[in-house]
Amino acid sequence: MGQLLTDASQYRENVLNYYAPFRAIRPLPLADQRKIWVEPELNLLLNDAIEIEIGNNVFWLLLEHLTWDTAFFNMPTYKLVNILFDAESAPYLADAVKQLQSVLPIGAYVFTEIPSEDITVLNALTSAGWPLIETRLTYWRGDLASFNQPRYAVRRATVNDIPNLKRVAKEMKNPYDRFHADKVFSEQLADEFLATYIEESIKGFADVVLVPDAADTPSDSFLTARYLKPSWQHGGVPISKMVLSAVSATTNKGWYQKLISEMTYHLKDQGAEYIFMNTQSTNLAVCYTWEKLGYRLGGTSHILRMPITQITIP
Ligand SMILES: CC(C)(COP(=O)(O)OP(=O)(O)OC[C@H]1O[C@@H](n2cnc3c(N)ncnc32)[C@H](O)[C@@H]1OP(=O)(O)O)[C@@H](O)C(=O)NCCC(=O)NCCS
Repeated sequence: MGQLLTDASQYRENVLNYYAPFRAIRPLPLADQRKIWVEPELNLLLNDAIEIEIGNNVFWLLLEHLTWDTAFFNMPTYKLVNILFDAESAPYLADAVKQLQSVLPIGAYVFTEIPSEDITVLNALTSAGWPLIETRLTYWRGDLASFNQPRYAVRRATVNDIPNLKRVAKEMKNPYDRFHADKVFSEQLADEFLATYIEESIKGFADVVLVPDAADTPSDSFLTARYLKPSWQHGGVPISKMVLSAVSATTNKGWYQKLISEMTYHLKDQGAEYIFMNTQSTNLAVCYTWEKLGYRLGGTSHILRMPITQITIP
């Protein structure tokens, strides 16, 4: 296994760069990011890798079992984190992927996020019948010292905001997020997932949740962020992430820009030097707002899901 692993990693070395968690942050060399974050994760997952052989060709499918999602959706849920194979095996990749289903528990749900640059794996997954669920853009900005915008009244959300923000999360659907776009999930379940996500974020899953705090405006919007401070020490660079947002179109129209702006100040005050976030390629209002505030496109990836025969989970 040792030599094969080396061959597989070497063959995929350049493309593995694009799996770096902070790939959008251009001043951080991708090869360094690969060494700091990608390779240690792959080494860890290799212990439980699914090994599939097609003739003399060996493939390692590295899966992460998601316990929270498994419990919430009541189905064994995995993320396919990566696939390792060498140059000679590449033509057989689609055949290997097709065998994955037969070695997983019945009803397993597997999704993956593949950078656009990994066209070999994208070709194999699509020819193995994995449907495209979402196309995801990552935006970023640095130079936070020069960030200069009008200030707006915001505050941290508290547990008292939970019922209202769950309502906003459910009402302000994004039909193209992974959960609404994957028709395996009913719309009601996708809504419920996002409502639970904002609840858990306020209870501590996020480091901060900001809401409007203006006298004439109800707090019918939110934006969550994670400081990611453990990675600041590990990687030596303070990077934070904005995560989930929704803005009521009836009472808070236009507040998205204000929340992003205030969160930029907040993360900068926490010590972040870089900030990144994801959206779908369809979310032009979001891209437009981020670009207005000096954020730039830093990478594109695709979410695909293993084909399943099951219809819709209620
Ligand atoms: C996306 C969302 C947060 C935007 O809320 P909002 O603050 O009311 O945003 P607006 O509708 O005012 O749009 C913001 C800006 O984008 C512009 N915009 C809207 N649609 C656009 C489009 N299709 N193309 C380009 N620009 C667009 C608006 O004109 C506005 O710019 P302006 O202020 O200069 O006129 C809100 O619609 C929402 O909660 N959607 C569902 C959840 C979601 O998608 N969250 C974000 C996930 S990353």
